[in-house]
Amino acid sequence: MTQKLTAAITAVGGFVPEDKLTNKDLEKMVDTNDEWIVTRTGVSERRILKGEAKGASDMGAPAVLDLCRKRGIDPIEIDCLICCTVTPDMMFPATANIICHKIGAKNAWGYDLQAACSGFLYGVTTGAALIESGRYKKVVVVGADKMSAIVDYSDRTTCILFGDAAGAILLEPNTEGLGVLDSILKSDGSGVSYLHMKAGGSLKPASIETVTAKEHFIYQEGPAVFKFAVKGMADVAGELLERNQLTGDDIAFLAPHQANKRIIDATAQRMGLSPEKVMLNISRYGNTTSATIPLCLWEWQSKLNKGDNIVLAAFGGGFTWGATLIKWAY
Ligand code: UT7
Repeated sequence: MTQKLTAAITAVGGFVPEDKLTNKDLEKMVDTNDEWIVTRTGVSERRILKGEAKGASDMGAPAVLDLCRKRGIDPIEIDCLICCTVTPDMMFPATANIICHKIGAKNAWGYDLQAACSGFLYGVTTGAALIESGRYKKVVVVGADKMSAIVDYSDRTTCILFGDAAGAILLEPNTEGLGVLDSILKSDGSGVSYLHMKAGGSLKPASIETVTAKEHFIYQEGPAVFKFAVKGMADVAGELLERNQLTGDDIAFLAPHQANKRIIDATAQRMGLSPEKVMLNISRYGNTTSATIPLCLWEWQSKLNKGDNIVLAAFGGGFTWGATLIKWAY
């Protein structure tokens, strides 16, 4: 009898730029204050990728190399690389191709996947399906976002939220029932009006007018998104537990998207999780979009044990949202 293949996470890598942008720094740039930012969002500082001609691939590449080093493999062994990002180096070609070139992953094919803040969850689910098909042995999913490239640093409602970073996981076949066990992914395009970038796509190509009107930055109606996010992320995480007949007691850790500490608290509460089971690094990195969840796994990996049940959960632009159940493999 052939054994069922699952996609196990066998290594995690990460990269955060050195430069920090603190709440004190932001106080000098816009009308805000540390107390407001911390109590409303949970963010104290974020990392910013500085330097000429540096894009998302300059964070994604070192994150994947970190992962290869930890697993003891050469990038040449990677079969496929999925790059989840809303800030690709260029509109085309795919940042996945650029990362593969930078790290020497000469045998890999790959593509970019864009699902805003749920990008990494969408990437894990599709990457796992490639492994489960039996056709690929080593699939990398990397979340890399240079949010500072699309943040308007004169808009106090968004510039306090976002940061730059990358995180990556390696997926490999497993026959012990470890790895990605279940995912519930959702999307609702009616959410587009609340969170988007107005220009730069085919609908409204870049022009002098769009640049002058600051339409190449994140546009967000924060309170509306908050309302959808707090319900969406908590509901889907609850649904995932129920359909797997699990309770909070069965879960070792929640690795949530880090958009707002209050959204994370609501999700943890719905799942019946105590605070020590929640991976939380929003205070140091802010919202790094596709990188938040792998960055949590990267920082928490020494605390994870083989067989631990871990739930990943996210909500983002689109709207997109979802939750994934993982049994840790090492
Ligand atoms: O990851 C992708 C998905 N995105 C999200 O999940 C983000 C969801 N939204 C949020 O996290 C929150 O809505 C924000 C953090 C963006 C905003 O927090 P809020 O509690 O919803 O605040 P608000 O927008 O309702 O603003 C409350 C007040 C307003 O002043 P008035 O009208 O009450 O006088 C704002 O003008 O706070 C003011 N305000 C600020 N004050 C100081 C807005 N931004 C700031 C600021 N500093 N940076």
